[in-house]
Amino acid sequence: MPNPPDVQSFFDPSTNTVSHVASDPNTGECAIIDAVLDFDPRAGRTATRSAATIIDYVLHRGLKLRWILETHVHADHLSAAQHLQQVLGGVVGIGEHVTDVQRIFADVFNITADFAADGSQFDRLFHDDETFSIGKIPARVLHTPGHTPACVTYLIGDAAFVGDSLFMPDYGTARTDFPGGDARTLFQSIQRILALPSSTRMFVGHDYGAPGRKRFAWETTVEEQCRANVHVRLGTDEEAFVLMRTHRDAALEMPALILPSVQVNIRAGRLPPPETNGVHYLKIPVDVL
Ligand SMILES: [Fe+2]
Repeated sequence: MPNPPDVQSFFDPSTNTVSHVASDPNTGECAIIDAVLDFDPRAGRTATRSAATIIDYVLHRGLKLRWILETHVHADHLSAAQHLQQVLGGVVGIGEHVTDVQRIFADVFNITADFAADGSQFDRLFHDDETFSIGKIPARVLHTPGHTPACVTYLIGDAAFVGDSLFMPDYGTARTDFPGGDARTLFQSIQRILALPSSTRMFVGHDYGAPGRKRFAWETTVEEQCRANVHVRLGTDEEAFVLMRTHRDAALEMPALILPSVQVNIRAGRLPPPETNGVHYLKIPVDVL
């Protein structure tokens, strides 16, 4: 088993997002996965409180930030990738299929004339099975689409960062009804994740609690998911999963921040360019989603 990274996680109660810092205890190099830029939709105001907590942790521990990783284009929170890079440096990475998501939302927001749906907003586009490292810890990227077409899982040493492909065993899986999502594809991606060594630690991207559990949680293992995930434990029938997921998704409302989040996150965490008065605006497409 490769050197295990130290993992510190940060929970954002306003979006139920979990951000993670994975670091190599030997070299001090680290990656930040799925960091949140705070956004108050009533005022249209961003803030960096959540990111500041992570930055404090990195600086306090004397870590060197090498990677700012996104598991996907999030629809429920804005990414703090650009803010983190300005303060700490590092390379912003995402799965190469982000271009599919960019194309879909460039149409939704009618920005095709001045937005390049080519992934160039990110520093690094990972292809399936691509390897990189954090200090001396080997890392690998698995393309795990379904929740979105571009979702990836980052396997860093013995720790898998699965984003929204799987949630805690007692909560199940993520919705697949966003544009480009697909329940059957998610089921197949999850089989790939569950085929990792059973002792693999697994860190999820959100937690919403579950009946009988008092605290939010975000760390589990492949073994535990195989045995106990309420949606996809081993032995689950693919057709039954697709039916369950499709039925459940039909009853869900859109996330509160989907419109601001996607406009910022397809730009790797940047706001749309300012208008002539220097102000950045976010659009609301009416009757589209
Ligand atoms: Fe998501």
